Amino acid sequence: MMGIIGAGRMGTALARVLAAAGVPTALCTARCDRPAADPPPDCTPATLDDVLWHTDPVLLALPFPVAVGLVSGPAGRCGDGRILIDATNPGFCRDRVVPPGLSGGELIASAATGWRTVKAFNTVPAEHLAATRIGGGTVTLPVAGPADAKPPVFDLAGRLGFEPVDVGGIESSREMEALAVLMARVSAAYDLHGRIGIRIAELDRSPVGRGADVAG
Ligand SMILES: NC(=O)c1ccc[n+]([C@@H]2O[C@H](COP(=O)([O-])OP(=O)(O)OC[C@H]3O[C@@H](n4cnc5c(N)ncnc54)[C@H](OP(=O)(O)O)[C@@H]3O)[C@@H](O)[C@H]2O)c1
Repeated sequence: MMGIIGAGRMGTALARVLAAAGVPTALCTARCDRPAADPPPDCTPATLDDVLWHTDPVLLALPFPVAVGLVSGPAGRCGDGRILIDATNPGFCRDRVVPPGLSGGELIASAATGWRTVKAFNTVPAEHLAATRIGGGTVTLPVAGPADAKPPVFDLAGRLGFEPVDVGGIESSREMEALAVLMARVSAAYDLHGRIGIRIAELDRSPVGRGADVAG
């Protein structure tokens, strides 16, 4: 069963689409004492301990400072090699929470020593997780982290209708987190209300290029 920590907009929206896609999902808050209050249909309300000890993969849908604080404690050591998906975006925090040249994903990965940390789902807006088509193609979902931890995340992304793309090691979180900020700026500038996505794909091969026009 998959686990999600954080029952705000992102955690609840992800739980909803995962459950709808037939992925058994447990949802909890980061507060030890109570399970998520109002989980979406077909999603299991759980405590933080349930999720930390009994689900795989576990996805962090918390404000970055809360997420890094959580995995800096015992929660960061209990993974036994399970997969931790970091969906946070430190770029939206009021204060600078990540030193220049680093990323939230790298900080989460180095704190969560008991887990294999994969950065994913930070570039898709909570309100439009079900909208996975863009310009006649499929929305790209960048995935960064250790090679042996990525296949299950690719599987999840595919089940939700995204096209996962391997963007390298966890250090690629730097670009993924910057991309999320850029997308939010464009969304605001063009009044898209978060209805924004990216597609990274090979260009069509055109038989007639500029040079051919000139020569021909
Ligand atoms: N929203 C999006 O479109 C989107 C998309 C991609 C990635 N993300 C990332 O996902 C993460 C969550 O975003 P969100 O939009 O879901 O935020 P949100 O709606 O504000 O939800 C945040 C969650 O974190 C919990 N939380 C906040 N402070 C806490 C604390 N001190 N201790 C324990 N729990 C605490 C809240 O629990 P309580 O309600 O119990 O306080 C809530 O469940 C962020 O890192 C964000 O950048 C968001």
